[in-house]
Amino acid sequence: MEVVIATPQELAVLAADAVEALLRRKPDAVLGLATGSSPLRVYDELARRHAETGLSFAQARGFMLDEYVGLAADHPERYRNVIEKEIVSRVGWAPERVQGPDGLAEDLAQACAAYEESIAAAGGVDLQILGIGTDGHIGFNEPGSSLASRTRIKTLTRQTREDNARFFGGEVDQVPRHCLTQGLGTIMEARHLVLLATGKGKAEAVHQLVEGPVSAMWPATIMQMHPHATVLLDEAAASRL
Ligand code: GLP
Repeated sequence: MEVVIATPQELAVLAADAVEALLRRKPDAVLGLATGSSPLRVYDELARRHAETGLSFAQARGFMLDEYVGLAADHPERYRNVIEKEIVSRVGWAPERVQGPDGLAEDLAQACAAYEESIAAAGGVDLQILGIGTDGHIGFNEPGSSLASRTRIKTLTRQTREDNARFFGGEVDQVPRHCLTQGLGTIMEARHLVLLATGKGKAEAVHQLVEGPVSAMWPATIMQMHPHATVLLDEAAASRL
């Protein structure tokens, strides 16, 4: 595991460098996209490069990590809409080249299986961008998730719903109770994992991720088993290392 400690802006540049190097080498690369606040600076940096240097996403494909269950198609916090606003629309990416798990499907189990098939049919994810929850989740794989899990429905913990209430007008009751998420086994098949964490609130999760024993109780620790994982931290997130 490669651990880098720098300023949030420097971290965003490093992550964008990895994405750009991949796209230059392999224009039809498959990118794994995360929501949450952690990757926002990376998306800003990629949008800037697209505008200023013509960095092209035209042939690339994207797969999202997770989605809330049951949020209306036009809900601004539906991850599909968030990802379209934060990156897809800003880098000239055709929306149909980016997919996410369908949180509005009638048969959610079937939607999860179909999503796994789509990722496999695209040849798997080349580079997966990740954030980390304060409880050590990646995607929405909450503590106790099987380390070999695949895309499936999960119940969000109270902690995660409280953490995400800020996106729902501060009201935890507005945060959905369920989600669909790529499993830890799915995420581990991506060829390069790039995780970003900033702020003191992430320090314990980062401590476990980098120095703790591999455990389903801190799901991100599975990344210790990955042959190519990059962990990008600011000083505050790294303060317990
Ligand atoms: C969210 C998302 C994760 C994200 C994490 C951290 O709930 N499902 O994909 O990485 O929690 O969020 P943030 O980056 O906003 O701290």
